[in-house]
Amino acid sequence: MAKSHALQRWGVEDSVELYGIRTWGAGFFDVSEDGDVVICPHGARGPQIPLPEIIAGLHERGYDMPVLLRVENILSSRIAHIHESFRKAIRTLGYRGEYRGVFPIKVNQQQQVVDQIAQFGSRYHHGLEAGSKAELIAAVALMRDPKACIVCNGYKDEEFIDLALQAQRLGFNVFIVLEMPGELDMVLERAAALGIRPNVGVRSKLSVKAGGHWTDSGGERSTFGLSPSQIVDVVDTLKSRQMLDCFRLLHYHLGSQISNIRDIRTGVMEAARLYSGLAEEGAPMGYLDLGGGLAVDYDGSHTNYVFSRNYNLDEYCADVVETIMSILDEKEIPHPHIITESGRATVAYCSVLLFNILDVNVVEEARLPETLPDDAPEAVRNLQEALAGISLRNLQESYNDAVYYRDEVRRMFSTGAVSLRQRTLAERFFWAILMRIAKEKRKLKNVPRDLEDIDVNLADIYYGNFSVFQSLPDSWAIDQLFPIMPVHRLGEF
Ligand SMILES: Cc1ncc(COP(=O)(O)O)c(C=O)c1O
Repeated sequence: MAKSHALQRWGVEDSVELYGIRTWGAGFFDVSEDGDVVICPHGARGPQIPLPEIIAGLHERGYDMPVLLRVENILSSRIAHIHESFRKAIRTLGYRGEYRGVFPIKVNQQQQVVDQIAQFGSRYHHGLEAGSKAELIAAVALMRDPKACIVCNGYKDEEFIDLALQAQRLGFNVFIVLEMPGELDMVLERAAALGIRPNVGVRSKLSVKAGGHWTDSGGERSTFGLSPSQIVDVVDTLKSRQMLDCFRLLHYHLGSQISNIRDIRTGVMEAARLYSGLAEEGAPMGYLDLGGGLAVDYDGSHTNYVFSRNYNLDEYCADVVETIMSILDEKEIPHPHIITESGRATVAYCSVLLFNILDVNVVEEARLPETLPDDAPEAVRNLQEALAGISLRNLQESYNDAVYYRDEVRRMFSTGAVSLRQRTLAERFFWAILMRIAKEKRKLKNVPRDLEDIDVNLADIYYGNFSVFQSLPDSWAIDQLFPIMPVHRLGEF
């Protein structure tokens, strides 16, 4: 009866609420009146394509699940959105530099993805970040826009530096970013050998450290980057070789998925001070590269929780632009072009992993006998008593009893003192007690620690047909939480 009641009442809006699709979907995902998940490639006001229709089309063409679906228009929309937000902040605040985004290839190395970014991004001069020789070769092969930047980060050997210098000779806007002090000599030596004046950048270790899961690459103890004193050494070396005019860019990377806007602002502030100091030293500069960190609201909570963010894109852009301006205006230093290396914020929305559910393991209400068999052990009788005596006031005690007597029966089973049927009976009473406690504890304001995990133990288990390693949309995201939901029949209970 309760089930048929729920069937009548459950509707699409309940599923929308349950799965939070409108909070994490950023306008790209929604549920139709028919209960299907729809993709909105151009955002909430554009056309909607039901996912089950796409799946049917894939079946017709002979493809089966699992499928990693990539929506090119979403990728384009994200690039456009990031640039439009920066343009708005620049215009509104009267900033005198431009925004030049670059996509870090390591975040998604799929050829189609990088190609699409290079092609669509050219209308905004969106460039690429290369962290290795292979990525630099890909960047040079795919980029056609001479105004867009190619930022070379990562460990560098002679070959990497030669490639970067040759790309610069071909007309690309390439920056070689020093990540370790020893790289400068190599860059200067190769530049002299090839007769090219390089565009040198420096990755700075900031003293600020952002909170979060993927922020080990920031802070004074980070592996990569130069300390302020090592940066001053770079200035002195360039000055001594009459090459200070080659110092064009300051870069830092606080970490990925920075969920608190305060950390972003603190980082930009320190970097802008460093930039200002370098300009005062006489370096021409012109580019400030903030690295990655722009977070994705994976859980839709809009908080500074590690899988969310407490700011939106407009706020991020306004804060960055305003902070740089306010610091540089103090010393009347020209505003640099702003580079960000947003990875996940660019690509996270464009991939959907579709897979079949093979089977479900549902924890069901146990069938219990009205009277116990004569040979039922004492521990089973105690479990039956514990079930009958559950009340809001003794939930913890009932839980302790359930675990204690269940374990006792298990021990007895392993010594041969109880039969398989007797053990099964004990397990049924145990699960019945847990289900009753789970129901009752919803009425409590403060749930005891032991009882917090009961819902997890009672959760249904769905068996999905996919491989985490082969199909994960952002495979670099170890420990990443992704939104997950059924794609059809969302109007049903
Ligand atoms: C140097 C650098 N830039 C950019 C990124 C991309 O960061 P995100 O995906 O947070 O934008 C990373 C990734 O960790 C990185 O190491």
